[in-house]
Amino acid sequence: MYEAAGPAAAPDAADAFERAVLTGLDYPQKVIPARFFYDEAGSALFEAITQLPEYYPTRTETAILADHAAAIAAAVGPGQAVVEFGSGSSAKAPLLLRPLHAAAYVPVDISGEFLNQSAAALALQFPELPILPVVADFTRSFALPARVAALPKLGFFPGSTIGNLAPGAAIDLLRGFAGLLGPESWLVIGFDLAPGAGKSVATLEAAYDDAAGVTAAFNCNLLHRINRELGGTVRVDDFAHRAVWNADLGRIEMHLIARRDTMFTAAGQTFRLTAGETIHTENSHKWTPAEIRLIAHASGWTPVHAWTDSAGRFAVRLWRHHDGALQP
Ligand code: AVI
Repeated sequence: MYEAAGPAAAPDAADAFERAVLTGLDYPQKVIPARFFYDEAGSALFEAITQLPEYYPTRTETAILADHAAAIAAAVGPGQAVVEFGSGSSAKAPLLLRPLHAAAYVPVDISGEFLNQSAAALALQFPELPILPVVADFTRSFALPARVAALPKLGFFPGSTIGNLAPGAAIDLLRGFAGLLGPESWLVIGFDLAPGAGKSVATLEAAYDDAAGVTAAFNCNLLHRINRELGGTVRVDDFAHRAVWNADLGRIEMHLIARRDTMFTAAGQTFRLTAGETIHTENSHKWTPAEIRLIAHASGWTPVHAWTDSAGRFAVRLWRHHDGALQP
């Protein structure tokens, strides 16, 4: 059974994209924040990315969750309200909901239409489960449905979405999740691992620069968005997609690089790029196990269980939030 979510709580203001583009293209290193990838076309392209042979995170994390769902269920016990942050298509939630004997599922996503469609599809698989979608930007404060207030809670944050935030912002967000979910809550979270024995830099870069050009189309969609929504005159062909591993900062960076000197207008402003100049569009941080432990402690969570695939590419962690627990 599911209750359709109401209108979005507090999404970006209607002119947020315009403000971000006008501000970001004025910086010496031009930038457009990655959250603007996800309009309707961008969300569809991201779903396609998750199916690509080069994009190992989705299938690797799915396999880890499938292999260890029973262990997660044994650790946390039945009757949890599962709160998924950035639930999208809710494709991974069934892996946990069944073995967990969840008492409720709260998918949280900024796209209300997508959220309600996914919730309706899930309700067919779980007719007895209360599904209570919340339209919200999970990086900002929002409230859980009153119906889950008295239930024990397990947060679910898969996909290494945490990697799209800088470490300081990631810690703030995870601390916010602890506050929202409350004392003695649990968190199941996915981290894409840094290159090392099980993963080369080439594997990592290929995951963000696939042979079929889907990630390139995802990146270039930002330029199409400027043309569609801001009356832009960008010649999209003047730009190429670039994905590079930044070893110093431990992250894949995506850029749109000008193939030649180019000029365009958007929202009444003129912008010029010289050949080789880039617009920085995304960071995707990759983590070592020690960094993951540090992030847990820094954000008020205690690591409980750690699972990794046999190749050492991706990590799933189970953490617990002990509020005010006495420390030795
Ligand atoms: C959503 N996020 C975790 C993806 C990632 O891997 O950083 C977004 C993405 N960008 C390019 N490919 C996938």
